Amino acid sequence: MRHFVVIGQRATASPDFLLVDIPSTSGRLDVLLRCLRAAMLVSHGVRRDATTYLVLLGGPNAPRTVRFDGSAARYLRPDERSLATVLQKALATECTGAGFVAVRTGVAVASGGLDVVLADLPEATLFMLDEAGSDLRDPTIELRDAVFFVGDHVGFDETVRAQLTALGARILSVGPLTLQAEDVVTIVGNELDRREHVNA
Ligand SMILES: C[S@@+](CC[C@H](N)C(=O)[O-])C[C@H]1O[C@@H](n2cnc3c(N)ncnc32)[C@H](O)[C@@H]1O
Repeated sequence: MRHFVVIGQRATASPDFLLVDIPSTSGRLDVLLRCLRAAMLVSHGVRRDATTYLVLLGGPNAPRTVRFDGSAARYLRPDERSLATVLQKALATECTGAGFVAVRTGVAVASGGLDVVLADLPEATLFMLDEAGSDLRDPTIELRDAVFFVGDHVGFDETVRAQLTALGARILSVGPLTLQAEDVVTIVGNELDRREHVNA
């Protein structure tokens, strides 16, 4: 299994954004949607071994988290607008209680941010993606069944960094340059694919 958690510092937790102008009306949900596509979709299909959490810390209903579970998800399309529509429906779902509420097969929403994600995840090695970390290609670093935390266009804030550090998260780098978040997800996914195929 592979788990991605994308932290949207400004991404709206409310469904009141415009599908025709996602970047300007949603706190850059477009960044998170591209990460979602990179984490969950291959050509003509959904990765059955992937889970992605979009943590939405902006807007009036924040914090909220939307979970996509590849083992159950159906009909996820790769275009941003279609994924945004799924997210908008999820954000219109009542979720005031504890835990995740199913929106449709493989998609669920919860009230809360990093805390609900951490409570939902299985015990696993945690990696915080950052260019100043250990090299993703280091073969001695075990990446199987791990959780990868990715920042949005503004990166992680100090609270999130401190919370993940306190949990023992290791810092992992995909290279020396600061990349777009979705490219980082693609590179991590590709490294996992290559290792799985070598070890298959
Ligand atoms: C566009 S970057 C954030 C840039 C932000 N201004 C900052 O200084 O953190 C989005 C996210 O991608 C990840 N990232 C970017 N470059 C990376 C790299 N070379 N290695 C690992 N993660 C990286 C980090 O998680 C980062 O928060």
